[in-house]
Amino acid sequence: MILVTGGAGFIGSNFVLDWLACGDEPVVNVDKLTYAGNLANLASLEGDSRHIFIQADIGDAELIGQLLRQHKVRAVVNFAAESHVDRSISGPAAFVATNVNGTFNLLEAVRAYWGELESAAQAAFRFLHVSTDEVYGTLDREAPAFTETHPYQPNSPYSASKAASDHLVRAYHHTYGLPVLTTNCSNNYGPYHFPEKLIPLCIQNALAGEPLPIYGDGQQVRDWLYVSDHCAAIRRVLEAGSCGEVYNVGGWNEKTNIEVVQALCSLLDELAPRADSRSYAEQIRYVQDRPGHDRRYAIDAGKLQRELGWRPAETFDSGIRKTVQWYLANPQWVADVTSGAYRDWVASHYQSTP
Ligand code: NAD
Ligand code: TYD
Repeated sequence: MILVTGGAGFIGSNFVLDWLACGDEPVVNVDKLTYAGNLANLASLEGDSRHIFIQADIGDAELIGQLLRQHKVRAVVNFAAESHVDRSISGPAAFVATNVNGTFNLLEAVRAYWGELESAAQAAFRFLHVSTDEVYGTLDREAPAFTETHPYQPNSPYSASKAASDHLVRAYHHTYGLPVLTTNCSNNYGPYHFPEKLIPLCIQNALAGEPLPIYGDGQQVRDWLYVSDHCAAIRRVLEAGSCGEVYNVGGWNEKTNIEVVQALCSLLDELAPRADSRSYAEQIRYVQDRPGHDRRYAIDAGKLQRELGWRPAETFDSGIRKTVQWYLANPQWVADVTSGAYRDWVASHYQSTP
């Protein structure tokens, strides 16, 4: 049995679905169900005894300890986090509460449980911490991509809180010998992506006839990875990664934001043309930039390829087409998650943008 945290969010739910599609080892899924957690992502697992869902906070060390013991968990995969940079700018407290204090309490629960295991089970146990390339800070246009030894230079409350959690995980290995693994991944996209993030937001707004908001000059660069490739990387690291090691995960797909949005518009023009036959690109609007906006992220995933043989299966073209097709096929999912709270966020966040 493995225990996954944040398994009702975007990447966590994709991971749980893929995990149970690839094998029969059951999953205890602990998720607080914040605005970003959505049980509809897991609807296909209804009645599946291999999936046990528990609504709880990762900071509830007592409950986590009980679950670890009750289910004799052999590995924890920690996805739970506050994950949206813009929300971390307007309300950083939740990021410190979950990403820093929550991860600390989770580590304490895991350390206590792991300490009680007999030596073979201790040696086999893994705590895999899912983190982000944003902890490394920003890169100049020509600078080499982030490797695992790049210094930590987080620039947003989100990335600073994730960096803090990475440091705690590292310290629990160094000090207590806890068998940890850390993955630092670039921007994911794919099914079940909450429409506050660039790609699903633009798909949703395009179809609704709303503006497609591009921050600043739109020349910021991100590396994009299709979510199922990230899930495969995590499975591989869990299976064969060396304890205490960090693995960068990326798609070898650097794109400017405007390139990404233009690619979305072209696909939508092909797959769901506007009634007036004009391009969705006409809805693009340049808006006020994000404060402290990192200019470029780029991931060197060479270590993961060399040591564990992982490479992404999707190109950007194949992944983005699958993503647009998924959103077109699942309008009800989008309608369900874009509730009143979502509309309040969009109204307040984009109100000042022309
Ligand atoms: P998400 O916001 O979609 O999902 C987060 C999930 O965690 C939600 O289901 C939420 O309910 C749950 N959660 C939040 N606080 C919790 C708490 N205190 N206790 C229990 N559950 C809680 O995020 P995501 O995009 O799926 O990201 C998952 C992880 O991957 C995060 O740790 C994030 O930092 C990391 N990551 C994300 C990306 C990306 O592009 N989305 C890239 C690299 C790394
Ligand atoms: P986002 O999806 O929020 O991910 P992250 O900030 O973690 O990289 O944003 C991706 C890029 O898109 C980032 O450079 C900010 C930009 N962006 C916009 O230009 N407009 C938007 O409305 C949003 C949400 C993001």
